[in-house]
Amino acid sequence: MTILLFYPDGDEADSQRWKKAFQLADSTIDFRIWPNWGDPSDGPAYCFVWQADKDIIGNQSNIQAIFSMGAGMDGVLRDQSLPPDIPVYRLADDELGKDMADYMTMACLMLHRRMPEFLSQQAKQLWKRQGNKRASEVSVGILGYGRLGQAVAKQVSAIGYPMRGWTRTQKSLDDGSELFHGDDQLDAFLAGTDILIGLLPHTTATDGLLSAERLTQLPKGASIINAGRGSLVKLDDLSAALDTHLSAAILDVMPNEPLASDHPIWRRSDVIITPHVSALTRPQSAAGYVAATINRIHCGDKTAPQLDRSRGY
Ligand code: NDP
Ligand code: OXD
Repeated sequence: MTILLFYPDGDEADSQRWKKAFQLADSTIDFRIWPNWGDPSDGPAYCFVWQADKDIIGNQSNIQAIFSMGAGMDGVLRDQSLPPDIPVYRLADDELGKDMADYMTMACLMLHRRMPEFLSQQAKQLWKRQGNKRASEVSVGILGYGRLGQAVAKQVSAIGYPMRGWTRTQKSLDDGSELFHGDDQLDAFLAGTDILIGLLPHTTATDGLLSAERLTQLPKGASIINAGRGSLVKLDDLSAALDTHLSAAILDVMPNEPLASDHPIWRRSDVIITPHVSALTRPQSAAGYVAATINRIHCGDKTAPQLDRSRGY
């Protein structure tokens, strides 16, 4: 019997959906929903959580490992009581990659085919034809070329865009993308990117990385899609760059979520906003992933992707 302590992110119906998904994935899992986590003397437990806003984890001494409900672990790291040595597993569920690749395919095509401009023309009942470059003339650069970035590149490159990826450490991948890494190569990466995709985790190094100055290193008329974390770019800097240098942006993540209803960026016709939905965690596949990973841990295999505290993600 495996005890799984669930910290809800939605309503009771959502918690029950998760419970059902875990029962289907592994009927031996004893799924307990906060605050009914039982007593630590019940035995070793795992915790499954998205945003740990309270000091919940440190107060439950039987937790052996945490599973993040998403690929990003910044939500788990919010819990100030998180013991420094407890393993935190990320959700490395392949369905996230497929969903993100679909979203980015849509977003790249919308930007390449000038959809923000046409939507704004439609709002003015304006019939004005405008052409676009060939896909082979539009380079797509992915800031954060990890699991999701590479899944996106595989699908988006089929449209014909030349692809480039930027990572923290040097990679040798044979997927046809031009690879860049580290701060030293960021300028060159940005200078050759027409559509910039942000798929970086939130860390102290990525917080505000796309500064006002860096935004202007992109070619004039470039556009941005951000679905990593909203802390990558300040909205004021982005708005200023859109006024002078960039053509459009598609934003799935925000520095503060939900985005305040009176924020001026909602009203920009060159910005399309989606509410953090580019790759939603799906209970059935996520529960299958977590149950399988718990089984691997029980067999002594702890190689599933985990938080590395030294790099912050
Ligand atoms: P990975 O850990 O697989 O990839 C992260 C990538 O970012 C790696 O290429 C890594 O490089 C790079 N990176 C990290 N820090 C830096 C840095 N300081 N400088 C340069 N490169 C850096 O994560 P995933 O691809 O699975 O997910 C990425 C992020 O996407 C998640 O952390 C989450 O924030 C976000 N996300 C958003 C979703 C949404 O619905 N909007 C859904 C799922 C995820 P290296 O390998 O060299 O360290
Ligand atoms: C995630 C997310 O990290 O949904 O999975 O943002």
